[in-house]
Amino acid sequence: MSDPEYSDDYTDPRLAVFYDQLNPWGPESDFYLDLVLAARSVLDVGCGTGAILRAARAAGHTGRLVGLDPAAAMLDQARAGSGMAGQATDVEWILGDLGSVSFDGEFDLVLMSGHVFQVFLTDDEIAATLAAVRAALDGDGRFAFETLNPRLRPWERWTNGAQVVAADGTVVDTANTDPRLVEPGIVEVVGRFASASWEREVLCPSRFRFVGEPELDGLLTAAGLSVEDRFGGWDRRPFTGQEPEIITIARPVRDTSARGAHRS
Ligand SMILES: C[S@@+](CC[C@H](N)C(=O)[O-])C[C@H]1O[C@@H](n2cnc3c(N)ncnc32)[C@H](O)[C@@H]1O
Repeated sequence: MSDPEYSDDYTDPRLAVFYDQLNPWGPESDFYLDLVLAARSVLDVGCGTGAILRAARAAGHTGRLVGLDPAAAMLDQARAGSGMAGQATDVEWILGDLGSVSFDGEFDLVLMSGHVFQVFLTDDEIAATLAAVRAALDGDGRFAFETLNPRLRPWERWTNGAQVVAADGTVVDTANTDPRLVEPGIVEVVGRFASASWEREVLCPSRFRFVGEPELDGLLTAAGLSVEDRFGGWDRRPFTGQEPEIITIARPVRDTSARGAHRS
């Protein structure tokens, strides 16, 4: 077998086409869809193929829906309407991230689904991201996201495989391989895509940050956000510390400094 080729499963158009097959609609999608439907204006950071925003439009959401993602190949899938959510022509799909595109108090809801929060590896990256989220929210807005609970060491079970089929009938085997802690709180895993009709297998290494809830709350507080709700499951059961997902809904802390300065 030839040497593998290295790529990225979101930016590589050959691989982005498989995202919705590998990540079909589930209870987490329903959780976020309910939040989107209750908000007037929504920013989905790392929207990927945009299934939640497309489903919201299909369900009758009439407000502003913006999907932001740095992977053009994922946004191509969003525009094309891949998967069961279908096409939505009036969602704003923006290529970029919160470092390259800024928003100013425009959204009732900012969301990050699919563990996007865990792509920010350092405290500085998280702080910059949370500051940009805070700036994008209107005063009464909410930030909803989830991160995997490091206490359960979920990466040790990331060895699942699946078979997917491209539009031209090419059958591709995918698997997560070699997940491991490479430094405290940072896990690396290599996604593998292989097909009998490809000359080389394609390997996609990626890294994820794991933070427990005390550390997470410190980062949120430092960014001027406070936790309003914390769930341990998509059915909104409370988080007790032992659930696989740490699901957080945070809101901006009101800035009272101007009033305080006036009084003094
Ligand atoms: C696992 S997918 C999640 C997609 C979608 N949110 C979902 O729930 O299906 C991760 C997405 O994060 C995007 N991403 C990677 N780095 C990012 C960054 N710095 N800012 C925003 N999105 C990023 C990737 O391009 C990819 O589309």
